[in-house]
Amino acid sequence: MKQSNNTVLITGGGSGIGLALAKKFMENNNTVIITGRNLSKLQVVQKDFPKIHIFQSDVTDDADVRMLADDIQEKFGDIDILINNAGIMNLVDTGNESNDLQKQMEEIEINYNSPIRVLHYFLPQLKESKNAVLVNVSSGLAYVPFSQAPVYSGTKSALHFWTLGIRPQLKPHNIKVVELLPPVVDTPLAQGADIAEDDNLKPMPPEKLAAIFWKDFINGKEEITPGISKQLKLLSRLAPKFIFKQLNKKPIPNRK
Ligand SMILES: NC(=O)c1ccc[n+]([C@@H]2O[C@H](COP(=O)([O-])OP(=O)(O)OC[C@H]3O[C@@H](n4cnc5c(N)ncnc54)[C@H](OP(=O)(O)O)[C@@H]3O)[C@@H](O)[C@H]2O)c1
Repeated sequence: MKQSNNTVLITGGGSGIGLALAKKFMENNNTVIITGRNLSKLQVVQKDFPKIHIFQSDVTDDADVRMLADDIQEKFGDIDILINNAGIMNLVDTGNESNDLQKQMEEIEINYNSPIRVLHYFLPQLKESKNAVLVNVSSGLAYVPFSQAPVYSGTKSALHFWTLGIRPQLKPHNIKVVELLPPVVDTPLAQGADIAEDDNLKPMPPEKLAAIFWKDFINGKEEITPGISKQLKLLSRLAPKFIFKQLNKKPIPNRK
């Protein structure tokens, strides 16, 4: 795995896991481009890290992603590494009819449909690279559903299956497919979940996650399962009912 001199695109790289991965790639002398919907958030990051490149771009907007691919090609040439990281998590009580349906549909659009869209428009660039890697950021919840976030768990499981499915298809094109399945990580996304009293689910600092990712990534690992995600994978096979119960002692989220 080539560790430096890659051009790396990270969707949703303006905070949390995406930003921690961006820093790791920059430390190792790569050109890093991050995207997000909120331009001022990206500009704050660029103030701290003047070498980072920012693009305001919504992964759910087809025209935006096509334009992003054109703009990047014009400015940087082809990317080598695409990291599908942008994601949201909604806490939902499915038994409550006053749920916001639109938000749940948006969650599917961002977390599952958009990685497919972004790969589609960047495929020609990855095919040109001699060191092409697609990294999909799913979740340990791809192995065991978390009832407080049922749509989220479904999208991450779908992303996991899509990742498994496309890996052998992209191999003949020399595009390596890597999946990062984070545990609970201390980012804005995880702050809403009601898991404070569960020691196993203590949030991991994003920098620690990025360090584990980097070690596994440069060693060529395809499925990266930091922290509790490793146990979730194992127990989802050995004792699925047990681990489901453990994770879902409190299936209904607190009302806001
Ligand atoms: N934190 C955890 O415990 C955890 C665990 C497992 C997996 N993950 C996964 O890790 C990834 C990163 O999440 P995070 O925890 O780092 O949360 P985060 O800090 O909230 O980061 C998510 C990023 O995605 C961006 N984003 C959201 N919707 C977008 C859209 N439509 N287009 C472009 N960018 C968009 C957000 O920026 P804007 O709002 O500016 O667009 C934000 O910077 C997600 O896929 C998440 O599911 C997180």
